[in-house]
Amino acid sequence: MLNNQTSHSPTTDLSPSSRCVRVCQNRTCKKQGSAKVLAAFKASVAAGVTVAGTGCLGQCGNGPMVLVLPDRVWYSGVRPSQVSLVVEQHLLGGG
Ligand code: FES
Repeated sequence: MLNNQTSHSPTTDLSPSSRCVRVCQNRTCKKQGSAKVLAAFKASVAAGVTVAGTGCLGQCGNGPMVLVLPDRVWYSGVRPSQVSLVVEQHLLGGG
């Protein structure tokens, strides 16, 4: 198990090098497969990126919902097969 002891900044004040991927694990998103999406992100996480499950992101029905901070970029209807694309093009590509 990883023990990431980096400093704890407020979630809205993360530097681009310390991004956080939040994957909704609340009821509606879970029914839409968000547990597998979370597992896929955890399996392919980029250096300096934290991945965490979260409560309802207020976008129920459009899930599984993913929010990347501090960029505030949302992804809706994410499939596990699409996770590698998000990692490559957003988390590694800086976009
Ligand atoms: S249950 Fe995922 S956004 Fe509400």
